[in-house]
Amino acid sequence: RREYNIVILGAGGVGKSCLTAQFVHNEWIESYDPTIEDSYRKVIDVDGRSCILEILDTAGTEQFTAMREIYMKTGQGFLLVYSITSLNTLTELSDLRDQILRIKEAESVPIVIVGNKSDLEEDRAVHSNRAIHLSEKWGRVPFYETSARKRQNVDEVFLDLCRQMMRA
Ligand code: GTP
Ligand code: MG
Repeated sequence: RREYNIVILGAGGVGKSCLTAQFVHNEWIESYDPTIEDSYRKVIDVDGRSCILEILDTAGTEQFTAMREIYMKTGQGFLLVYSITSLNTLTELSDLRDQILRIKEAESVPIVIVGNKSDLEEDRAVHSNRAIHLSEKWGRVPFYETSARKRQNVDEVFLDLCRQMMRA
């Protein structure tokens, strides 16, 4: 069986842990408990192939640290998560991608751009065009809007990332 390391990155409070909890446990978490670092294991079927996923849910607020360097090195696929309610959280993704490419000494790495909190349409601050523009700038990196709260597009982002890692 294939085993893959996934790392979830993005600013504090964008919903990284909630997306992970929905994907791994089908669970919605209303309260906000900032993450230090958590890891999860899940076996999924991708196009008839069984894959073991090691998922690392990281802390949004931390600066560039030695830890971050280590998990960027071992990560094989990355979810770059922002919130559609905060433009800053999208602009922060560019630095993260730069760090990943630098540390992995690669020109491209399996990545999915995730605009979370799509259920909060009334608080939207980021038009999807901005993320589409970023996705094109990065060579058509897949982009999804998700709602961890409503469990929308959650499986899709992980599946897309798995397919990219299987091809890599
Ligand atoms: P750090 O661990 O600090 O980096 O934050 P995080 O990115 O893990 O955020 P977390 O998943 O803990 O979610 C932060 C807050 O946003 C929580 O109160 C969640 O309930 C809320 N939240 C997360 N996802 C969604 C979503 O899709 N919709 C709505 N409405 N709220 C969400
Ligand atoms: Mg968290």
